[in-house]
Amino acid sequence: MEAYIAEWLHLGLRWLHVITAITWVGSSFYFNRIDRSFRPPVPPVDRVSGQLWSIHGGAIYNYSRYPVGPGYVPEKLKWSKWESLSTWVSGACLLAVVYWWGASINLVSGRPGGLDPVSAVFASITTIIAGWVIYDVLCRSIPSDKVLSVVIALFISVSIWAFTHIFSGKAAYLHAGIVMATIMAGNVWFVILPGQKKMLKAMQDGSIDKFDVGADAKRRNYHNNYLTLPVVFAMIAAHFPITYGNAYGWLGFILISGAGVAIRHFFNTMHAGNAQPRWIGAGAVLALAAMVLLAPRDLLSANGGAQAAAVDVGRVTSIIDMRCAACHAAKPTMEGFEEPPKGVVIDTIERAATHAQQIRQVAISTDVMPPANMTEMTDEERKLLADWIAAGAPTH
Ligand code: HEC
Repeated sequence: MEAYIAEWLHLGLRWLHVITAITWVGSSFYFNRIDRSFRPPVPPVDRVSGQLWSIHGGAIYNYSRYPVGPGYVPEKLKWSKWESLSTWVSGACLLAVVYWWGASINLVSGRPGGLDPVSAVFASITTIIAGWVIYDVLCRSIPSDKVLSVVIALFISVSIWAFTHIFSGKAAYLHAGIVMATIMAGNVWFVILPGQKKMLKAMQDGSIDKFDVGADAKRRNYHNNYLTLPVVFAMIAAHFPITYGNAYGWLGFILISGAGVAIRHFFNTMHAGNAQPRWIGAGAVLALAAMVLLAPRDLLSANGGAQAAAVDVGRVTSIIDMRCAACHAAKPTMEGFEEPPKGVVIDTIERAATHAQQIRQVAISTDVMPPANMTEMTDEERKLLADWIAAGAPTH
């Protein structure tokens, strides 16, 4: 019953989280796009620094940008704030349900000497708060925009590396994504919104001509823009063992995040009317480098089929039985599992044979399965499974 409720909570929260994230990223991308597309109006319009004509649905739209307001504070102003808050809150709830409630399966690394579930949850909470505090201090103490960008990139790179040593690979990716997403939401709520309120006040009391948005708010906007694609990658890659399961998964994460930044930069140049396709090229090179880096090294022993006779199918059957079937049976016996995870049933040698390639990916090329090595599979057993798959996964 508990597992069933957890599944629905998981699904419902994920649905909500994706919807809110679409509204946030959507409005952020949209404003970035129009902001870079503005051109001075011809003929000039009082106080308007940029104008953009566009077409959508059944009408023509005309946007105008008033850097110091139209001379009064419009009565009805649309704010962009609930998108980021609801994305962050739904994400935090999802984190709590999947990674804190399910800490022993999803959060802990299961390596000898690794954190126990309670300490891991504590570490998870700490990383989120510490991530924001460190970022905020960096922004306040480094005056140069360029130096700050490099330091933030280093900070995130060190974080993902450290997370792979504290959490499971999947949770490491996710936490790197959460640190970046928390920075983005924090920027909106703690810096950008207060800045906008001050700006409105200056419009009201007539001091707007002397008002300065401040370099800090500008660069935090800039960081949010470039962090978006890496965050989205972190969120979806946590479903792909080929990325986080690799020993160099942290480096792959850094490469792909770099690709995300490059691709975002291309779009920024394009919206500004000066498209620089070389940034797409740079992104592709980084993504390709990640693919090469993360390619499974072991691609199994070269002796392949020749070993068929030597594989002890009886041993393989008992490994599957002891290490996998508790969860991957039609009726799992492992507490907390109502259904075989992802519908993958591996409880007989025949069923295992039909999943041979998937098994290779999660239990041989990587040690993603069993999660947190809950059923204590040994390296020797992984080697035996590898030989069995190399021999063509014989069933007798
Ligand atoms: C403690 C329970 C548990 C045990 C034991 C376990 N698994 Fe899993 N398995 C899971 C869960 C949970 C998932 C879903 C993971 C996810 O959604 O990221 C999964 C997913 C999988 C998948 C699908 C991966 C995908 O992304 O499509 C395969 C294949 C798999 N396991 C193989 C194995 C093998 C082989 C073993 C034994 C060596 C094993 N599992 C042991 C819980 C378990």
